Amino acid sequence: MLSIVILAAGKGTRMKSSTPKVLHKLCNKSMIEYIIEEALKISNDINVVLFHQFENVKKVIENYPINITKQDHINYPGTGGAVLSAIKNSNVKNEKVLILNGDMPLIEADELKKFEETNADIIMSVMKLNNPSGYGRVLIENENVKKIIEEKDANKNELKIPYVNAGVYLIKKEILEKYLPKLNNNNAQKEYYLTDIIEMAVNDGRKIKAIEVDEENFKGINNKKDLAEAERIICNRIKNFWMKNGVIMHLPETIYIDANTSFEGECEIWPNCVIKESVIIESEIRASSVIEGAVIKHSGVGPMARIRPKSELIDTHIGNFVEVKASKLNKIKAGHLSYLGDSEIDEGTNIGAGTITCNYDGKKKYKTKIGKNVFVGSDTQLIAPVVIEDDVIIAAGSTVNKDVKKGSLAISRAPLKIIEGFYYKFFGKKE
Ligand code: UD1
Ligand code: MG
Repeated sequence: MLSIVILAAGKGTRMKSSTPKVLHKLCNKSMIEYIIEEALKISNDINVVLFHQFENVKKVIENYPINITKQDHINYPGTGGAVLSAIKNSNVKNEKVLILNGDMPLIEADELKKFEETNADIIMSVMKLNNPSGYGRVLIENENVKKIIEEKDANKNELKIPYVNAGVYLIKKEILEKYLPKLNNNNAQKEYYLTDIIEMAVNDGRKIKAIEVDEENFKGINNKKDLAEAERIICNRIKNFWMKNGVIMHLPETIYIDANTSFEGECEIWPNCVIKESVIIESEIRASSVIEGAVIKHSGVGPMARIRPKSELIDTHIGNFVEVKASKLNKIKAGHLSYLGDSEIDEGTNIGAGTITCNYDGKKKYKTKIGKNVFVGSDTQLIAPVVIEDDVIIAAGSTVNKDVKKGSLAISRAPLKIIEGFYYKFFGKKE
């Protein structure tokens, strides 16, 4: 068994954001959560080092079975300082320590197992990149790692080195205890670099092994462009998972599905849909629909529909330009151009085009309740709070501001006036 230390104390200046770097989200889940979940697959001793916005980051991760350490960032800034804090607080239980940068959300547990299976004093990860910028360069001579040079400290020739440090290391605890206190901050960033222990260990004749890895799994996220590239990879993984589980996706490259959505049974998703925090069961989501925080079962939605949080649709048909929010719709049809908010609508009811639940009076929100087999005519306004009982007909164009009893017709209409020949008089034209 090995211990894992995840470095997540940095500010992430290059993200240009007030959100700490590791709380930036990919497919609606923060970077730090991805890496913790993978780490937990291979170890039960996970130590996360925090500092910047300590409380905010802690809040997001405190329900995981992990130890949280605060870095002594004032005296020991840098990745070396972060590991030193974890070791000093003696949170690290095992002899082998796997160190992960917290800004690597693409890592999967299977990739980490490779480190465990290799034997050396230090095992590090190296990538060969056409564009190495943004990473520390790894100086390799006669197939042996000599040292890591941080980009900001590298000279012109060193910058051309295509081998970079991916940021994952398996290091014996004894080595960390020996070398970390010897680090200094004589470098461009005035930080204690973890990477400097490589050169020290090499000089002492320690055995260093490099494992070659790829960016698809080991990309470090330092700016918003990196974030977008990594999100594309994560989103593809999510979609591939669900397609393998039986979901049909048309042009999946145009579909966004977040990490908190699940599908059951055969579902079908058409192009340009966005689906977040939802459960979709045996349903069809048609083109360009946006679904968030909903449960949709045996239903068809869209094209161009929007289903908002706390909505539950069962055996329901939602057509184009219909917006649903916090509504429970059971076996109903709303085919066109409607807003159904804070409502409960029951079996057999048909919602005509242009129906609006007027749920907000400018101060508070109110509920609309509609029973079974109600026929709501087009362009109806339901002024909430309002209850429409079963078997009611609401005439098109009505403003319903009173409860309606079972079996009734509700009609509110200004009488229609027809003035013959008015057109010709008004425009001064002849018939
Ligand atoms: C680091 C490596 C670099 C490597 C790259 C891989 C060092 C000095 N450099 O550079 O060689 O190519 O990762 O992605 O290690 N952190 C702390 N405390 C700190 C500073 C940082 O916990 O005081 C954490 C950050 O939150 C982050 C991780 O360490 O999760 C890496 O820090 P970052 O600033 O992104 O380092 P890079 O410049 O990417
Ligand atoms: Mg980084």
